[in-house]
Amino acid sequence: MACRLRSAGLALTLALAPTLIVAALCPATGPAAAQSGNDAPPSLPLGAAWYPEQWPESRWDADLQLMEDAHLHVVRVGEFAWSTIEPEEGHYDLDWLVRAVRLAEKHHIAVVIGTPTDAPPAWLTAAHPETLHVDAEGRPAEHGNRRQFNYASPEYRKFCAAIAEQLARHFGHDPDVIGWQIGNEYTDESFDPATRRQFEEWLKRKYGTLDALNRAWVTAYWSQTYDRWEEISLPAAGGNPGLLLDHRRFVSDTWRDFQQVQIDVIRKYADPRQFITTNIGGLGWSDNWDHYEITKPLDLAAWDDYVGEGHLNVARNAAMHDFVRGWKRENFWVMETQPGSVNWAPVNTTLDAGETRAMAWQAIGHGAEAVLYWQWRDALNGQEQYHGALVGPDGAPLPIYAEVGRIGREFELAAPALKGTKPVGQVALLVSYDSRWAIDFQPHNRNYDQLEVLLGTYRPLRDEQLTVDIVSADSSLDSYKLVFAPSLNVISQDLAAHLLGYVQAGGHLVLGPRSGMKDEHNALNIQRQPGPLAAPLGGRVEQYYALDGAVPVAGTLGSGSASLWAEQLSANAPDVDVLLRYGKSNGWLDHQPAMITRRVGKGSITYLGAVLDPELMRKVVAWATDDAQLKAEFPAVPASVEVCRRLDADHAVFVLLNHGTAQAHVALPSTMSDVLHDGRRVTSVDLEPQGVVVLTTDER
Ligand code: GLA
Repeated sequence: MACRLRSAGLALTLALAPTLIVAALCPATGPAAAQSGNDAPPSLPLGAAWYPEQWPESRWDADLQLMEDAHLHVVRVGEFAWSTIEPEEGHYDLDWLVRAVRLAEKHHIAVVIGTPTDAPPAWLTAAHPETLHVDAEGRPAEHGNRRQFNYASPEYRKFCAAIAEQLARHFGHDPDVIGWQIGNEYTDESFDPATRRQFEEWLKRKYGTLDALNRAWVTAYWSQTYDRWEEISLPAAGGNPGLLLDHRRFVSDTWRDFQQVQIDVIRKYADPRQFITTNIGGLGWSDNWDHYEITKPLDLAAWDDYVGEGHLNVARNAAMHDFVRGWKRENFWVMETQPGSVNWAPVNTTLDAGETRAMAWQAIGHGAEAVLYWQWRDALNGQEQYHGALVGPDGAPLPIYAEVGRIGREFELAAPALKGTKPVGQVALLVSYDSRWAIDFQPHNRNYDQLEVLLGTYRPLRDEQLTVDIVSADSSLDSYKLVFAPSLNVISQDLAAHLLGYVQAGGHLVLGPRSGMKDEHNALNIQRQPGPLAAPLGGRVEQYYALDGAVPVAGTLGSGSASLWAEQLSANAPDVDVLLRYGKSNGWLDHQPAMITRRVGKGSITYLGAVLDPELMRKVVAWATDDAQLKAEFPAVPASVEVCRRLDADHAVFVLLNHGTAQAHVALPSTMSDVLHDGRRVTSVDLEPQGVVVLTTDER
């Protein structure tokens, strides 16, 4: 693959949004071009994780030919290959990887290099045992798995920098290498004494004095008062909520620093056109560390989108894409996804025929710029022999290969229309890691699942065909008429000022249950909920209740029930409207306000104190979108159909997905071009089960 823009690419790509680097580097020249052997791959690459080191070199060409035949245009290589790249300390062998990249070029396949730092070789950890992590019970990790390293170890980071340097020197100017992935799914922290000392230093930098720390954490409680910094331990099994929150922040900072070592080395040797990312796992929603912090220094966000057991959970997966897009507020890559099935779920069921295709297109609809399957072919031995793959142990295609080939062909067809477009949110859902951690440390109701509560708002918004952004609570909200904050537990003075500024300028803010209980030290806000926003709201939470059953709720918005959580609200200002009240229940909640709203500045603040049933929540969302005068661009569609919208300045691209089991008919709001069918003009479309239609408007 010799992309024609390559030499001019340096300056050009710098000026572009990072997620468009591939597009800029290798502009789409149309499907015919890819078919006729033109050397520029399309800008919407489908790909796979390929581990050439696991196979005889004589096999590589056949694999790459099969990839090319399936319209794959990108491979990720190198990840986990440390023992092959550096078989002995300081002795590197990268010639094989250079040959693999050249062969990929022959097949018009671009390359992302993964640094192998998730899997240190045996010689390294044997000679330097301090590079192994220690778990919460004090046991050092052993060789034979991956992720056995200590993310905080300066010694380990030196080895990482050295191998990243070798890779960057070899491939930093390689025309076929388009980007870098650092490590793999940052996961395990360490509880060794040296890391504890780093935490101590981190706390010293943050608080300056022990007095300040003792005050913030209110350590007079249970005589937790610290007299010396060394007395503060890494919280392996619970602890003071202030300590727990700071520890999560320390873990985030430590992973960020671990990553930065490799970013610095790669940036020193690599062309600016090559992006740097990492692949984020944990099904997107993991909260080991703050995803905003980790993605900040990266050029693009990438995540690993797996279903695991069962079938695509449409709303959850859609929400995860929207959440990932919010990390950098840019389009993103799906660096890994399952070719049918995985090996790590309790029951490793396979997606139905057609479902893998719908899943790939859902990713694109929500802002993905690339989709890569994990993996091309299972290693003959190793822990993941049962995982889904595209070709079998014999090297011949598995049944899923044909479906993936179809997706690849369709991506080529759609690339020109999608180029430069992205989902543009009409409404935002706010999240913060501080809030997520604070609630998870003390859930109070073990069934309170923050993601489910978030989806309770997300689903009805999507059913109204609105594009939803899920963004950090402290990010700029200017572009939204309406913002929901479902469980914004931690609201500091600064965050309150930010949200109030949004409201005063005309924004509509709907706070959900558990909002504003805590400050930035995870201490209780003295104003009660929603903390510093209680005064502008003109009301507050008098008491909260964990529920073990349903409580009736009714008011001007309709009637239904609350479960899991209910807050007894009060309205203290004359201009506060009570929209919902509890019915007869535990005596405390009876007839008390459950949802209140008040005009503030040019906008409004609303507080909903309960987790409502889906129907009543739908009415609440309909009221809020009406109040904020939000309108979808697409009319009502059958319930099984998902509508995704990507925009550029001139036109809209709609990706329609039928997740149901029956055919669905959709009347379009205007005549559009059917991108996957020669651009034919259509006013309505019929979607088969798992069907996908890509439409583009003439202009907006
Ligand atoms: C993760 C890892 C991959 C592989 C897959 C299997 O996403 O990044 O290396 O183990 O899981 O699903």
